[in-house]
Amino acid sequence: MKLLITAGPTREPLDPVRYLSNRSSGKMGYALAEAAQAAGHEVTLISGPVALPAPAGVDRVCVETAREMFEAVRAHLAGQDAAIFAAAVADYRPVAAAAQKLKKTAAALTLQLEPTEDILGAARGLFGFRGYLVGFAAETERLLEHAHGKRVRKGCDLVIANDVSQPGIGFDSAENAVTLCLPDGQSLPLPRQSKADLARELIAFIAPRAALKSPSNPG
Ligand code: PMT
Repeated sequence: MKLLITAGPTREPLDPVRYLSNRSSGKMGYALAEAAQAAGHEVTLISGPVALPAPAGVDRVCVETAREMFEAVRAHLAGQDAAIFAAAVADYRPVAAAAQKLKKTAAALTLQLEPTEDILGAARGLFGFRGYLVGFAAETERLLEHAHGKRVRKGCDLVIANDVSQPGIGFDSAENAVTLCLPDGQSLPLPRQSKADLARELIAFIAPRAALKSPSNPG
């Protein structure tokens, strides 16, 4: 089976030396790529800037900004059986990046931001993806309400809800604890565990469901 996975943060430049970003390390997305590859799947990993090596046997495409991640997903999504969006894409970017390094002055500095491309939101409509679609939802409040809302709005088969207000899980940690938000509105909590173990459990959940949905499945 063919899987596309996004991972890591994006960086949205303010000037040649500064950017807006977030605390994603890429560990969750890379663990998913490794687990999928180890389970025998063909993996394309669209990665924001992280300090992790490319997993063996995985086709990694490196990007910096949300716009670049959007274009890379657009270029690689056709023919995938499943797409898992684990990246923490910046929701806003500076309207214009300064050509030269911004100089410090005594005055307050106001940044004007604009929304970035909604990559997950583009999957079904703009990109016409019909495979098994998985989004993450990183929330600090009303976790399941927000996560199920994303599942419905973005046309996902599954949303993986991540309570990022909890210390020791979520962003830049070795472990994670998530709840699966299922198409029938049910929620299935998974125990706290290493991201590697969780990734294996998630791939074992996703792969058979993606196979059933695959255009190559005669049933
Ligand atoms: O990278 P780690 O340090 O291992 O941390 C893992 C993680 C916390 C980053 C990961 O498990 C996680 O929760 N990823 C999603 C983070 C996020 O940005 O969530 P969100 O609720 O803001 O976005 C919802 C979904 O839309 C996500 O699937 C996201 O990839 C996608 N999205 C968001 C914004 C955007 N412009 N385009 C998108 O495709």
